[in-house]
Amino acid sequence: MQNSLIIKKRIKNFNKKISVSGDKSISIRWVLLASLASGVSKAHNLLISEDVKAAINAVKKLGVKVKLKENFCKIYGKGLNSFKYRKNLTIDAENSGTLGRLILGFLINTNYPIKLVGDKSLSKRDFRRVSDPLSKFGAIFKLKNNKNLPLIIQGTKSLKPISYSEKKGSAQCKSSIIFAGLRTDGTTIIKAKKSRNHTEIMCNYLRLPISVNRKKNYDLIKIKKAKKINPLNYKIPSDISSSAFFIVLVALSDNSKLLIKNVNINSSRIGIITILKRMGVNIKFKNQKNYKGELIADISVSSAKRLKAINCPSKLNSGAIDEFLIIFLVAAKAKGNSYFKNIGELNQKESPRLKWGAKILNKMGVKTVTTNNSIKIFGNPNLKINKQIVIKDFLKDHRVFMTSVVAALSFGGSWSIHDKDSIKTSFPAFLEIINDLKK
Ligand code: S3P
Repeated sequence: MQNSLIIKKRIKNFNKKISVSGDKSISIRWVLLASLASGVSKAHNLLISEDVKAAINAVKKLGVKVKLKENFCKIYGKGLNSFKYRKNLTIDAENSGTLGRLILGFLINTNYPIKLVGDKSLSKRDFRRVSDPLSKFGAIFKLKNNKNLPLIIQGTKSLKPISYSEKKGSAQCKSSIIFAGLRTDGTTIIKAKKSRNHTEIMCNYLRLPISVNRKKNYDLIKIKKAKKINPLNYKIPSDISSSAFFIVLVALSDNSKLLIKNVNINSSRIGIITILKRMGVNIKFKNQKNYKGELIADISVSSAKRLKAINCPSKLNSGAIDEFLIIFLVAAKAKGNSYFKNIGELNQKESPRLKWGAKILNKMGVKTVTTNNSIKIFGNPNLKINKQIVIKDFLKDHRVFMTSVVAALSFGGSWSIHDKDSIKTSFPAFLEIINDLKK
């Protein structure tokens, strides 16, 4: 099958320097904030993937001029109230929860109803988590089945600030409310369970009226109406979530080493590093620097002699939320049984990822005990696969695809992994980098 990848051989040892693509969360936030800035913003190393292209298309539909040349992008913002609304306007968030949810925050003062649609996977996901708080500002929503896309948002010019307790630890939900707060007179207050904080950092760097009071278990965020957004020139750092596949490829190999250049190591994103270090993987940060409020470093990783099982503390979940599938592979090779709990949110992602994690492991012959909210993985340091494995019908979830590739290259067996195109969502260069490691 043309869109399937066949892998029949384990990867040989390697020792290289690589660069992975720009961070997806930061790329999408930059596009959205730049689209309402007063002036021209420029980004280098923007992630050019389908999610980010969908963000660019969305702001173009709202009348914003964008020029893109390879991964250099210029956005010609014309101010906070410059979006052009018209009748029957439809915005397509495609596969991107981040785009679909964040943009709604900026659309709450529309003067026409706007339709938001997405692909099959996004249309299964929960949008009540953003329509509920945004309705409190005064916007009116109509959602399919009361919670899904397609939805219609009808904004209002008389927005009221809200106080909201965000309990899922969703950065998308938090960011959507922050964007809405920037449009609203008065003070919007969010008590937010910890989640990635790129929006707060970017808003702070832009000197927008936002304050964050970090408590032990949550952040108290206050937002006031912005007068204007200054243009933002930005060099997007590499994505830790894309790096994660290579970090684990090294962790599962016998004698390999990688240096991954210029990766965003924001403390709200490096749950995987803490977890893997505890499991015995050798990881070091080199050349750390601060870039516009974000921490960046080169990541050096080398093969682990012995992998240990982990009983993963829930406090590490939010920082590793996109990495659990790939972490489960490390647990499969660790000595002992690993346990991951309070991770039900994984089933709310591009595919029901907790179920898919168990499914991949079971196909590999690894025993698991799964609930809606947890997984126990019975590790085997001598794990080798000698059978045929087919991975298909996973709602084109890019991370299911890339995790399966790493499993095939690490444990052997004869794999047919469908929907190769899924990598275009977040990491189109994934297979090229894998092929370079094979040379
Ligand atoms: C993201 C937040 C997370 C994450 C997603 C990107 C973001 O989703 O899984 O890949 O950029 O804000 P949730 O907000 O649903 O946790």
